[in-house]
Amino acid sequence: MISRVHRPGTPPSLGCGEAGRPVATATACPENFFGILGLLMHDNIESHLVEKRVFKPPRDFSRKARIKSLGQYRRMYRESIRQPAKFWAREASELVWRPRWKKVLEWKAPFAKWFVGGKLNISENCLDRHLSGPRRNKAAIIWEGEPGDRRTLTYQQLHHEVCRFANVLKRNNIRNGDRVIIYLPNIPEAAIAMLACARIGAVHSVVFGGFSSDSIRDRIIDSGAIALVTADGAYRRGGIVPLKRNVDDALRDGTSIKRVIVFRRAGNDIHMEEGRDVWWHRELEYVDANCRATPLDSEHPLYLLYTSGSTGKPKGILHTTGGYLVGVYSTMKYIFDIRDEDIFWCTADVGWVTGHSYIVYGPLANGATVVMYEGAPNWPEPDRFWKIIEEYRVNILYTAPTAIRAFIRWGDEWVAKHDLSSLRLLGTVGEPINPEAWMWYHKNIGGSRCPIVDTWWQTETGTILITPSPGAIPTKPGSATLPFFGVDPAVVDENGREVGPNIGGKLIIRRPWPAMLRTIYGDKARYRQQYWSEFKGNYLTGDGARRDEDGYFWIVGRIDDVLNVAGHRLGTSEIESALVSHPRVAEAAVVPRPDELKGQGVVAFVTLKTGVNATRDLKEELRDHVGVHIGRIAKPDEVRFAEALPKTRSGKIMRRLLKEIASGAKVTGDTTTLEDFSVLGKLAESEE
Ligand code: WTA
Repeated sequence: MISRVHRPGTPPSLGCGEAGRPVATATACPENFFGILGLLMHDNIESHLVEKRVFKPPRDFSRKARIKSLGQYRRMYRESIRQPAKFWAREASELVWRPRWKKVLEWKAPFAKWFVGGKLNISENCLDRHLSGPRRNKAAIIWEGEPGDRRTLTYQQLHHEVCRFANVLKRNNIRNGDRVIIYLPNIPEAAIAMLACARIGAVHSVVFGGFSSDSIRDRIIDSGAIALVTADGAYRRGGIVPLKRNVDDALRDGTSIKRVIVFRRAGNDIHMEEGRDVWWHRELEYVDANCRATPLDSEHPLYLLYTSGSTGKPKGILHTTGGYLVGVYSTMKYIFDIRDEDIFWCTADVGWVTGHSYIVYGPLANGATVVMYEGAPNWPEPDRFWKIIEEYRVNILYTAPTAIRAFIRWGDEWVAKHDLSSLRLLGTVGEPINPEAWMWYHKNIGGSRCPIVDTWWQTETGTILITPSPGAIPTKPGSATLPFFGVDPAVVDENGREVGPNIGGKLIIRRPWPAMLRTIYGDKARYRQQYWSEFKGNYLTGDGARRDEDGYFWIVGRIDDVLNVAGHRLGTSEIESALVSHPRVAEAAVVPRPDELKGQGVVAFVTLKTGVNATRDLKEELRDHVGVHIGRIAKPDEVRFAEALPKTRSGKIMRRLLKEIASGAKVTGDTTTLEDFSVLGKLAESEE
């Protein structure tokens, strides 16, 4: 059971009816912008609040936007659904193909091929195609390191670096189709390494720099990667994360990795393994900058990105070339309404899909200027983001609700110190944004003048699927609003029937889209089973949602047990397995509990082996243990020792009950399948 309760505070006093101001949709301007319509119930999902505030796109913004009105959006959307091949062919023809595709889509559910017969190279589309005009000397990446160092790479310079690094890859025997792990800080070299792989047809798999050696190792084993690109260290909150040391640990017992290329970033002492490890800067001395982009089949694999599943083993989400590029190009163009003169800042790390699609491929395919920042938002002070925006005159900011909640906690004074008037558009991604956080973002960051695009999507979807078009679609705080072109989502019940307005259900997508995942790497059966088996021919997102009376989508959270901590999805079983790997632990169950800052916090219920003392120190030790084995973000906020865990008769842990206990609520759900009732009472007393 999923429930989401909005608890808005006092409604802020806002005018009505002006552009950029709230207006009422159906009724006249309501005195109270919140309408708590009571409980809107369905079998699976409850929704307790209906958000009534509506914000029209500012008139000035609409006038200049590519999509200027709701009417225009609806016409284009209708066309994209009725004649998808025509719509997507038009988008694709703005890119460079060698040669063009023969057929837009071949759909043998659940396997899609887009732009069949076409060949292209993504790095050529992101770089070379901008070199013949005025974009040649335009900034592609404006980068700032955490210690304050800066670099700007123009399109020509970025092209030069990518070509050279592609030659380094070739020199190190990395070929078309080989998998390459990239484990780097958020520095331009991450983008350079990705684009260099794409240039020669190697498949990159970026591993977020916050992950530990075990996570790297799992991903190497699953992908069969032969090379790894890393750095000596990464700056984080003034300290240095020892990336290379983590890599050494991951490779200790031997893996498929034959070559490690190390970029010098933090200058910390590292060990270089003779015959395996080489320095990035030394390798550059042996190569020139001539590297033709290899034309690749439209369905050639571009990258693998691992995401946690509920069964523990991370899934390698596979994205391919042609459809992905058309998808990121087109979403970037329409959703961020990107202009040549814009400075766009996506605050994600390249290690997540948001960084892939909206730091690297989407913006560069559009010839845009992106800002990339290496470090923490509160280093050295909580106004780092606002300083960056003021200094570089950032026009578009794309960030996550978890960051917004942190800024709210740190205090408005940090924002007030800076001139944010350059901003014209804001975006969010990663989890549902609470309406009050949306309002804060709108007022304090957007100066009540910038539209907010709340973009719903997933690692699997590759691109944004549900979002407002900023010049066309009125927004409601907390709703991702309407589908992007060519996307056909629906909210359905257990039987796959579409439910009525404001009834919760499962969010599905009823037809393929260009940037969709093609499979789970090495596991077609799991791909079919996980995403396409519940409602045949329809993609199961795993999210719960409802649609309101205007057709707006409201995401209410994950249907399965996957945790979403600070915008990151974490599998419960992965964390449980890490806990159980501790010599004193017998069993563990991990559940989320609401967390003001991170969206969800992690609570671990742990049973210890007989004779082991339950001490406070052990709790700390277990938290650290998870940190070491999975990464800091997975560390439980609370560890509770329990005599036993609630289980079904067949031995399955009932996480639903644990979830209620963890959040301090009374156990209300169905307990008839519970094996031992006395467990519940004891668990409730298991608090610290
Ligand atoms: C959640 C991130 C509500 C959702 C791009 C989804 C959101 C999961 C939103 C994917 C949003 C992402 N509103 N929920 N705007 N964006 N989510 O794979 O549960 O890291 O299924 O991709 O995050 O997370 P992932």
